[in-house]
Amino acid sequence: MIKHASQFAVAEDQVMPAAPADDDEHIAPAPRVSVQAFCETVETAAAVQAAGEDRHMAKAHVKIQMGGAAAAVEAYRNSPTPNVILIESDNRADEILTGLDRLAEVCDFGTRVIVIGRINDVNFYRELTRRGVSEYLIAPLGTIDVVRSVCGLFVSPHAKPVGRIIAVIGAKGGVGASTVAHNVAFAIARDLALDSVVTDLDLAFGTAGLDYNQDPPQGIADAVFSPDRIDTAFIDRLLSKCTDHLSLLAAPATLDRVCDFGADAFDAILDSLRSSIPCVVLDVPHLWSGWTKRLLLSADDILVVAGPDLANLRNAKNMVDHLRSARPNDHRPFYCLNQVGVPKRPEITPADFAKALEDPPLAVIPFEPQIFGTAANNGQMIAEVAAGHKTADMFRQLAQVLTGRSEAKRARGKLLMPLIARLTKRKGHK
Ligand SMILES: Nc1ncnc2c1ncn2[C@@H]1O[C@H](COP(=O)(O)OP(=O)(O)O)[C@@H](O)[C@H]1O
Ligand SMILES: [Mg+2]
Repeated sequence: MIKHASQFAVAEDQVMPAAPADDDEHIAPAPRVSVQAFCETVETAAAVQAAGEDRHMAKAHVKIQMGGAAAAVEAYRNSPTPNVILIESDNRADEILTGLDRLAEVCDFGTRVIVIGRINDVNFYRELTRRGVSEYLIAPLGTIDVVRSVCGLFVSPHAKPVGRIIAVIGAKGGVGASTVAHNVAFAIARDLALDSVVTDLDLAFGTAGLDYNQDPPQGIADAVFSPDRIDTAFIDRLLSKCTDHLSLLAAPATLDRVCDFGADAFDAILDSLRSSIPCVVLDVPHLWSGWTKRLLLSADDILVVAGPDLANLRNAKNMVDHLRSARPNDHRPFYCLNQVGVPKRPEITPADFAKALEDPPLAVIPFEPQIFGTAANNGQMIAEVAAGHKTADMFRQLAQVLTGRSEAKRARGKLLMPLIARLTKRKGHK
């Protein structure tokens, strides 16, 4: 195992040159990951292109461009990185390593890097390993070499699970937790191009189907009430596609069955989703039961949505405190305020929340009955009914933070802020 602090997400034990193709080897299919290749030769570009069309990669989204590491650094300076980056380089070892160091500066958390080169040297492998490169392939490459290495990133017993689970829950009922969850998931899928699944856990009353204008015949109930059938293929059939990168595991929203589940009722469903989908957003109903608590505790990140009143403040604090002490080694739960600024309503300020919760809210979303009402009644997202609205931007920012994307880039963006502010100001004066 790699002991050094590595720069890229490491998937497997070691960097390995590609083994020769073997006719009857078994390659597990790649999950729904995004893959971007930066090639230097047409031969490699052709191999990657053919790999993207291979049946094992049917679920992956593969994009190819030329230009090697330099093009990758340029491409990701201001945009999030995909699940996998392939970099081809014809250069000398030291030049390749310098290129990778530059790439590391713009690489988001969780992105895995495969390097394709022509150098066959053990010290060079070692340097790549130290940098957290997941795999090194020696050109010229066959299609199957690319397929094997991309698919292999996600099957090793040491591989980190593909999926990140983000649980969203309200500090009170009706605060807009589901609305936030659905809009954030929409932004993750559309703006970050990460394949996402919204899981509606409010089986009796859930609104995800309504919000995305979907009425699928199957959904989460089919899985939770037949636990022995659960596997990735079965769960896959229960998903309904909302947009290019977004699917829904819908609630039936019927009352013929009651929902008092055992604490581990959703474990197998989440394991299955996590093994194949990069981002899973859980729309958790406002309940404190064995299974909701377990879902929250097992999520990678938590977002508590609160309204600006005293009961919300108390509940949000209780939830955040409880989850913090139960997950001492995790990032603390995030929270945001929603429906802020209802006319004539006395409200507790974001500053008071920040003081009580010892953390500022991730977002303060205004009360906007017109656009939120239109979106809800039309089965659309805020970004669809009011693309330029500031709340659409807030959902995009929440999406970035909750997926661990672009934090470094945002910090760098901040350095540029005063300059941009000055320039726009000057423009305004003219
Ligand atoms: N910022 C907002 N401004 C105005 N209305 C909102 C806002 N956020 C949510 N709503 C509305 O509040 C209602 C409750 O939202 P919902 O997401 O179902 O809450 P929860 O899941 O917390 O019970 C919905 O009608 C929704 O459209
Ligand atoms: Mg809800």
